[in-house]
Amino acid sequence: MHLQILTTLTLALSTLTTASSAINDFNCRPQNNSNPVVFLHGLGATYYEDLNLLQAFLQTQGFCTFAETYGAYDGFPFVGGLRPLADSAKEIAAYIKRVAHETGADKVDIVGHSEGAMQSLYVPKFEDGVSEIVERIVSIAPPTRGTTFIGLYNLAYILGDASREIIGGLLRAVGCPACDDLGPDGAAVERLNDGMPIVQAGNRLTVIASKFDEMVTPTSTSFVHEDGVENVWVQDLCPDDRIGHIGEAYDLHVWNIVKNALRDQVGKKFTCVPALG
Ligand SMILES: *[C@@H]1O[C@H](CO)[C@@H](O)[C@H](O)[C@H]1NC(C)=O
Repeated sequence: MHLQILTTLTLALSTLTTASSAINDFNCRPQNNSNPVVFLHGLGATYYEDLNLLQAFLQTQGFCTFAETYGAYDGFPFVGGLRPLADSAKEIAAYIKRVAHETGADKVDIVGHSEGAMQSLYVPKFEDGVSEIVERIVSIAPPTRGTTFIGLYNLAYILGDASREIIGGLLRAVGCPACDDLGPDGAAVERLNDGMPIVQAGNRLTVIASKFDEMVTPTSTSFVHEDGVENVWVQDLCPDDRIGHIGEAYDLHVWNIVKNALRDQVGKKFTCVPALG
């Protein structure tokens, strides 16, 4: 598990400087009437890491992609997603509205990973004026019913010496309200599961999960059991893929599932890469 995480993080870090050129181009005009796609990163990440390679991939497929770091504390812009989910939700809602406004699009699609996946469910449900301008939601490994985030702090630590000090100091100073929010009885989890539907009218949700996710467990708790929701295992499409939680952001198979979900072709077959298994 650690080897896989290290490999994917190394891959991510080595491309930090190359993949961001076409993100947030408000002059981008999507092909085939597709919607602009807003990406919501995971806990401890930023707009330029975590989902950056997925964005680059989708750009090659003709999508216009947008992302912003959310949930960071003042003075620590490179560690996102720490603030309480309810606070971050307001930032994210404003950003989704801005993307719709500045691109002139009627509808925006959202792709989130981990905490960002949780927010892809939370923001349209609780922030005014968002579900109306959202069409598709693709939620990769959301802790829909909470997670203990075992190993979370360790994950931050392997980002490197510099960030270890920064993250260590930051967590000592401000803590991680989002971590508390995402626990099994966390405030955000309880609010999301308040008995009212998660999916709002006019929104189309695809949830993607891996049977080898080591952080959101049991892994099936990501899924949303409401009418019209597509709940997909990575292994439904590529049975030999053993990707874990962080790796899902960098997994070519996941990327293909996301692409097909954004084209309303969930479940469409593609070639699985044996080496990824
Ligand atoms: C638009 O359609 C073309 C031809 O099918 C395809 O290559 C391209 O990826 C599509 N773009 C999007 C955003 O789906």
